[in-house]
Amino acid sequence: MGAEVLRTERRILRRPREADREPFARMNADPRVMEFFPATLSRQESDALMERIKAHREQHGFSWCAAELQDTGEFIGFIGLAVPRFEAAFTPCVEIGWRLAAEYWGRGLATEGARTVVDYAFADLGLKEIVSFTTVANARSRRVMEKLGMTHDLADDFDHPGLAEGHAQRRHVLYRLRRNCD
Ligand SMILES: CC(C)(COP(=O)(O)OP(=O)(O)OC[C@H]1O[C@@H](n2cnc3c(N)ncnc32)[C@H](O)[C@@H]1OP(=O)(O)O)[C@@H](O)C(=O)NCCC(=O)NCCS
Repeated sequence: MGAEVLRTERRILRRPREADREPFARMNADPRVMEFFPATLSRQESDALMERIKAHREQHGFSWCAAELQDTGEFIGFIGLAVPRFEAAFTPCVEIGWRLAAEYWGRGLATEGARTVVDYAFADLGLKEIVSFTTVANARSRRVMEKLGMTHDLADDFDHPGLAEGHAQRRHVLYRLRRNCD
């Protein structure tokens, strides 16, 4: 985010640091975490992604945040906002996304962190709508979207332009969340 730190009950969302590169690369090399992405990332690819996250913040004033547990300071993954670089029926838009190391799954941490990011997007950035998307089979991520109150319209489903025709993960679902007061 643009803000230095966003706090939730159990975690802190903050700007990425050099020290995050190693646990970030470990997470991106884990086939469980990358099951619904085209491939795991090498150390070099993971570092390049970290650079893009930094450049995104410089360009837009917000980006993905590193998430750490308040109690222990452990790095557990990334949650945040991004402007997709591809064109589709629903772009331009701001996307909320999450990626946690597998040992931290199933404790509500993604949803808790994402709720804080939703508040930040609407209250601080003044956005009217945020979206999230994933490949159809990514039930865990879809469940997080549902728990955030996001809605899915079949008419918004799309083929991800970054994936070749015939790719098993090409078909994507789109979820939307509009600011309450509008
Ligand atoms: C998606 C992800 C961030 C979820 O993190 P998390 O901290 O486990 O999420 P939460 O605990 O807040 O919520 C997960 C929900 O999915 C449910 N779930 C877990 N496995 C599931 C499955 N196989 N099918 C359906 N739902 C499932 C959980 O029961 C929970 O729902 P509940 O609270 O109603 O029981 C994590 O799995 C992840 O990093 N995955 C890999 C990266 C990824 O796919 N990112 C999204 C790309 S769009």
